[in-house]
Amino acid sequence: MTDSYLNVRNLNVSYGSTTALKDVSLQLEKGGRLALIGMSGSGKSTLAMAVAGLLPKQARIDGTIDFAGHRPKLGSEIGVLFQDASGSLDPVMKVGDQIAEVVATHLGMSWIAARVRAAELLDRVKIPKALSRLNSYPHEFSGGQKQRIALAAALAGNPSILIADEPTSALDTVIQRHIVDLLDELVKDGGLTLLFVTHDIALASERADEIAVLYQGELVETGAASQLLREPKHPYTKALIDTYISLDRPRSTRLPELNIADLP
Ligand SMILES: Nc1ncnc2c1ncn2[C@@H]1O[C@H](COP(=O)(O)OP(=O)(O)OP(=O)(O)O)[C@@H](O)[C@H]1O
Ligand SMILES: [Mg+2]
Repeated sequence: MTDSYLNVRNLNVSYGSTTALKDVSLQLEKGGRLALIGMSGSGKSTLAMAVAGLLPKQARIDGTIDFAGHRPKLGSEIGVLFQDASGSLDPVMKVGDQIAEVVATHLGMSWIAARVRAAELLDRVKIPKALSRLNSYPHEFSGGQKQRIALAAALAGNPSILIADEPTSALDTVIQRHIVDLLDELVKDGGLTLLFVTHDIALASERADEIAVLYQGELVETGAASQLLREPKHPYTKALIDTYISLDRPRSTRLPELNIADLP
């Protein structure tokens, strides 16, 4: 594929004796939305963090990760959003300053211009009365608002790709929807490329163009979201979808623990 934006080839990652990813290769087009699914421990976060360049020092990495032929810079070209906004926001720093700091660092703007940009970003992620909230601290916002603020900070350096690791699973369903709507808007209007981890198959089917299924560190299936869910090829994907549908489970439940050895 020549026009892919992100190109991962033969990626292997291990932590000591634990192999987290085995020979993973995948591509993502510019402006595309890729969902990584798979059960707990299958390597989703490891893959997302490898792409972000954020794996811990002890991780052994082998293989290549290219972005349109070059290595992008975290914070400017790559934005990252985690499950728990409190983890990415500094509790003792005003939210406007946190965002302005990213803007000033990555875009080289003056502090005043960076504060103005911070207000614009808070407005962009739909924080009401954004300008008057610059001097508020994270604890003065609701959980959903905190995740919006974390998103504003992730977008502050004008990234072309956003990597989100279960960005909505700590939030209730209604708030989840607001956040994913917002992410969709950013992809549609801003040309953002999105790589997100989710354990929510319904979310992946609605909001991703492509789905990649990880099982014990291996990418067992990847393809267009609608096609993959309609006609899953790999037995693990099939079992995952069947279990998901038959259980009529709440959307926020984790993917079932399935053992491939038990599958037909
Ligand atoms: N920092 C680390 N040190 C050692 N082992 C790790 C580390 N991070 C992850 N692992 C191991 O690597 C494997 C993949 O973990 P990873 O966090 O990527 O899975 P995941 O699919 O994101 O799971 P979850 O759905 O629970 O978030 C697991 O066996 C995990 O225990
Ligand atoms: Mg994870």
